[in-house]
Amino acid sequence: MRILLLGSGGREHAFARSLNASPNCTQLFITPGNAGTAACGTNLSVGVNDFEGIKNIVLSEQINLVVVGPEDPLVNGIVDFFLADDQLKNIPVIGPSKLGAQLEGSKDFSKEFMQRHGVPTAAYHSFTYSKLEEGYQFLETLTPPYVLKADGLAAGKGVLIIDDINEAKQELKSMLGDGKFGKAGEKVVIEEFLKGIELSVFVLTDGKNYKLLPSAKDYKRIGEGDTGLNTGGMGAVSPVPFADAAFIEKVENNIVKPTIAGLTKDNIDYKGFIFIGLMNVGGEPFVIEYNCRMGDPETEAVLPRIQNDFVDLMVATGNQKLSTIDFKVDPRFATTVVMVSGGYPGNYEKGFEVKGLDKPTESIVFHSGTSLTNGQVITNGGRVFAVTSLDETMQGALNKSYRTAHQINFDYAYYRKDIGQDLM
Ligand code: AMP
Ligand code: GLY
Repeated sequence: MRILLLGSGGREHAFARSLNASPNCTQLFITPGNAGTAACGTNLSVGVNDFEGIKNIVLSEQINLVVVGPEDPLVNGIVDFFLADDQLKNIPVIGPSKLGAQLEGSKDFSKEFMQRHGVPTAAYHSFTYSKLEEGYQFLETLTPPYVLKADGLAAGKGVLIIDDINEAKQELKSMLGDGKFGKAGEKVVIEEFLKGIELSVFVLTDGKNYKLLPSAKDYKRIGEGDTGLNTGGMGAVSPVPFADAAFIEKVENNIVKPTIAGLTKDNIDYKGFIFIGLMNVGGEPFVIEYNCRMGDPETEAVLPRIQNDFVDLMVATGNQKLSTIDFKVDPRFATTVVMVSGGYPGNYEKGFEVKGLDKPTESIVFHSGTSLTNGQVITNGGRVFAVTSLDETMQGALNKSYRTAHQINFDYAYYRKDIGQDLM
């Protein structure tokens, strides 16, 4: 099997490692990849949204399977692009169709989907500029804090949670009227605030069957104690201790099954991952959001626990044969600690030499934002590494990740020291 993987983050390094570990993977290409993926296959330099460039790779390298990491090419319709092309249409692409990717690409679409299929979620209404006054009135019916969401993709910044009603009204106006989030904010979802603890579950579906992947919790804020600015994720743990068997059964029955059935009912072509962001509200799961891809850094904690041949899993997803797979998960804890460039998620410098990468023995060091210059690994992003470890206990896994992070050096490196502590 000759495989092409799209993306360049820690998630993609985790995918590349799992794909490359399979005896069924004869050759792996990653585009654009990073210094970590270069050790698992061949990096190429085509961007993930350059569909013609991707077509050229698929034809020239005789690719049999494409795995998509990030949401952008999915929302832009890469699956539909393959299906509409006579030379590409028989090559499976792991990821949903453009319509399926709207579960992430449009909050309004995903809320309507949940409502239509009886998936528990916060009560909501959507508004455009012509309905601004009605938006104000709806806010008056809610109790604070107020949750405002730009409908479209806004690089993770499109959700506002505001305590004061006047400020909420002002923000609604600046989103709808003044283009605060550009096109993404031309429609705004206002929803009820859900109080509880967040976690994520991941589903792999072939459109008919599904496998429930391990749960994970990520740590979004830059500062310890979950303070400061939002980031792409500063760490993750899997499994989530409070998500016990009874809770996961509720998630499966109340959320996963109606979601998969809904995709079928709505004729949505979906062969790929669904990342379900959940709030545990007094023991009941509610969906906060769907994403049409795996999470980052959650993937770096989830994938190392999957014991199946990963290529077999991807092929079965493409062929709608997931029901034939006997899914196996490592019962141990996986923790990942993300090392970032000083200043992230604000301004930060790149291009620093990384030292100590030859030392770690008790962790897997996934590269998130690195590149290779004359054989030397240099920092090339805000999130630089995700250091993953496995152990019988969460604390044991964390100890290994922190010992490893301590051995890796680059200028202005920073990581949170409290990953997982809220769960002990
Ligand atoms: P989203 O981009 O939809 O994941 O929202 C970003 C973050 O906002 C989530 O991870 C939650 O922490 C928070 N959030 C979103 N919706 C709600 C809600 N209805 N109630 C409480 N918190 C929310
Ligand atoms: N870690 C959150 C995300 O991937 O969206």
